[in-house]
Amino acid sequence: MNKIGPIAVFDSGYGGLTVLDKIIKHLPQYDYIYLGDNARTPYGTRSFEVVYEYTLQAVSRLFDMGAHLVILACNTASAKALRSIQQKDLPLIDPQRRVLGVIRPSVEKVNELSQSGHVGIVGTSGTVQSESYLMEIAKLFPDIQVSQEACPMWVPLVENNEFDSEGADYFVKKNVNSLLYKDASIDAVILGCTHYPLLIPKIKKYLPEGVNVIEQGDIVGESLKDYLQRHPEMEKKCSKNGSVHFYTTESTDKFKQTAGIFFSGDIRVEHIRL
Ligand code: DGL
Repeated sequence: MNKIGPIAVFDSGYGGLTVLDKIIKHLPQYDYIYLGDNARTPYGTRSFEVVYEYTLQAVSRLFDMGAHLVILACNTASAKALRSIQQKDLPLIDPQRRVLGVIRPSVEKVNELSQSGHVGIVGTSGTVQSESYLMEIAKLFPDIQVSQEACPMWVPLVENNEFDSEGADYFVKKNVNSLLYKDASIDAVILGCTHYPLLIPKIKKYLPEGVNVIEQGDIVGESLKDYLQRHPEMEKKCSKNGSVHFYTTESTDKFKQTAGIFFSGDIRVEHIRL
């Protein structure tokens, strides 16, 4: 096994590319591999057991490919699989490797992002049902009031390139109104799903002016930079040639066609089976 390797970014499909895009802007010097489990997406409607099983398969594969550090860019995987993998599996697979998620870095910023102390979370049904955001925010900022809204149609709208359509207006308005009905004092909304940044213009259109819409990409990029500074033993294991390689469990042609919506760089992709 190589002593150094790429940083791996995993998602159930394309959405994690919005996070990878921002991570690379913050940390362009490293090598990255991105794995999209496009053949089995979406994860957002799947059970805890299935999301855990699929995510563990992906993480193990990324370790085999030489990564010492895996970022679960998927909120659903971070909500349903991260803790079990960190506590149960990593000590058995290799206690020196690390798997990090996207929920904790977003939660750590919540108090800076809201003035009113009333925060909204939008996410997949799986992320919302897991209550991960509620629990994490309650631990760090017990005074912040959090309301959640599951938006099951938003991922299919983005995946099908319909994020700028009238259909998107209909579903975004419906979910945003439902969130505001739960708490009209919300002044910050966390986009708790990797696909949602593409819907930002529509989300802002239906939120009252001045509400802070929080994208995770930059937050995760900054948090990873900070993590690598605080963990030189891990930083030393990350190779630095500025390369990015993509892997998909679906067809590579389809990946190349769609990935450009989410990621601004060059896309060289290979197929793998998990
Ligand atoms: N990537 C997932 C997330 O961030 C959304 C897509 C899915 O449902 O698989 O929650």
